[in-house]
Amino acid sequence: METMDTDSLKGSRTRRFLQLGTFVVFVWWAAVIKSVSAVFTFIFGADYRLAMFGKNIKKNLFLLDDSIVMTNNGSYGTPPKKVKETQWKYQEEMERCPDIWFRYKVQNLWNSSLETVAKFVGANVKDLVFVANATSGINTVLHSVDFQEGDGILITNQTYGAVQMTAQEICQEKKAKLLVLNVTFPTSDMTGSVKYQVTEIVEHYEKVLQENKNVKLVIIDAITSISALKLPIKKLSEVCHKHNALVLIDGAHAPGQIPLDLERLGADFFLGKLALYTLISSRKRGFLAHFFKIV
Ligand SMILES: Cc1ncc(COP(=O)(O)O)c(C=O)c1O
Repeated sequence: METMDTDSLKGSRTRRFLQLGTFVVFVWWAAVIKSVSAVFTFIFGADYRLAMFGKNIKKNLFLLDDSIVMTNNGSYGTPPKKVKETQWKYQEEMERCPDIWFRYKVQNLWNSSLETVAKFVGANVKDLVFVANATSGINTVLHSVDFQEGDGILITNQTYGAVQMTAQEICQEKKAKLLVLNVTFPTSDMTGSVKYQVTEIVEHYEKVLQENKNVKLVIIDAITSISALKLPIKKLSEVCHKHNALVLIDGAHAPGQIPLDLERLGADFFLGKLALYTLISSRKRGFLAHFFKIV
């Protein structure tokens, strides 16, 4: 009869204990990962893995060339692959039977896009229209306000070039006055973030509007183009209204960067671009959606 000494008995028990322990830890760890994954799926949706890491986002969700690192979303933006594929699908559908497309389909699609945008920016769909681009939207507003001789338009030295030029042209045409509020750099709050001290800029506008009672329209950038300065548009709209001036917000860089609640913003007009910050499809037609809000 074979016998087993107590040492080897102890050794095999320890080994079994360790094996069981390893198995329990493994099962426990798998359960933790599964639960974390379930929570992430619940919060971010089934595609969360694609969206978790920069390289994966770029590779899986965009058409961007592997060899480039896209950092400039503000000039042209780039649409997600899915959006582009949907656009191509619609373009094909249009060409398959243009009559059906233009007579029966396009208006419904247009309206539902408008509803989606309205929801996204917190506006009533009745207050929104799509315009060809930001410049033409701003032109529409500037040409709709009844400027009289001596009225003023207030912009800043950070106002987008094409907008400055249009305002200048309107002023020449109507014998109105173009006032330029000078934003100087560095601002008092340049420590890490390019955010203008709220009180500072509000007081600045207040002073200019007090000294220039004839200002009829103020054009304010939600985020300035070159300097990326985020302005307190809600507070500034209040100040402008206190001085009886209409407010046009140039929000070209706002959708996708800052949360918008246009119903409650209090501005008279808001112009936004949706082609930037990976929000929508085409820069040319179809889904190139801009909007302005008329209160
Ligand atoms: C602040 C701002 N306003 C207006 C525009 C003009 O936009 P668009 O080219 O769509 O006319 C731009 C362009 O990027 C901009 O940055």
